[in-house]
Amino acid sequence: MENEQPTKVRKPRAMIHVKDLRKEYQLEGGAPVVALKRINLDIMEGELCCIFGTSGSGKSTLLNQLAGLEKPTFGDVYIRGVPITRLNENQLAAFRQKHIGFVFQSYNLLPFMTAVENVAMPLMFRGDSRRERTKKAVAMLKKVGLGNRLKHYPRQMSGGQQQRVGIARAFVAMPDVVFADEPTGNLDSKTTIEVMDMIKSFARKYRQTIVLVTHDPELAKYADRIVTLVDGRIVSDTKGENHEEIC
Ligand SMILES: Nc1ncnc2c1ncn2[C@@H]1O[C@H](COP(=O)(O)OP(=O)(O)OP(=O)(O)O)[C@@H](O)[C@H]1O
Ligand SMILES: [Mg+2]
Repeated sequence: MENEQPTKVRKPRAMIHVKDLRKEYQLEGGAPVVALKRINLDIMEGELCCIFGTSGSGKSTLLNQLAGLEKPTFGDVYIRGVPITRLNENQLAAFRQKHIGFVFQSYNLLPFMTAVENVAMPLMFRGDSRRERTKKAVAMLKKVGLGNRLKHYPRQMSGGQQQRVGIARAFVAMPDVVFADEPTGNLDSKTTIEVMDMIKSFARKYRQTIVLVTHDPELAKYADRIVTLVDGRIVSDTKGENHEEIC
């Protein structure tokens, strides 16, 4: 007999929901700097979303609010439906450890730890045994092509290699969202392509959401979607050249 059950279509859902977000910085004795002015935005599960704009447009400020690194002046950010803007510091730290990964422009590796130890760090908070953590970190470093640099310290690696360690660290704990602020800002163009391909292929494989901040139009081409900021406001929200049906 024919199966007449309709095939289940997975509904797209917002991984990040931003509601009326405003961020002011109060400087001593001066008027406040309004870095973000009423941002409303949904970033979908599995989307590679680029926050694009010139220097000073508010990109890093937006990323910092989305990732819960700073508290907004007004408005809320939800990740997986959780209002992260309303969590206290301990709750927020626990939430970040479980759901969020970061890739930084300056790599931010711990200088006194080897590549394996750096990558294993995010797994410390997950209750994995030391043996398990090392095994996962080594596997991840092999995936980013650094199987021959496992015991190297950051200062013994090139910038591109350090950023590959940074990517391995961001993805090792299988976070739902990875935030990357100018991840290739210190790299040459060939290494930039390698690093971006890596970020994209990891994200696609596990349907992770990526928020990529950049001022570089070449990098924005990697995105499914480009949200452009000017002076703290969203002025356009378009599909990227590499847009793929992700939902
Ligand atoms: N801690 C702070 N205190 C005061 N003003 C700030 C602070 N952080 C950012 N700003 C201001 O907010 C605005 C947006 O800054 P932001 O760092 O988000 O820009 P950006 O788009 O990331 O720029 P860039 O491409 O240069 O990194 C700028 O005018 C900046 O001077
Ligand atoms: Mg910035």
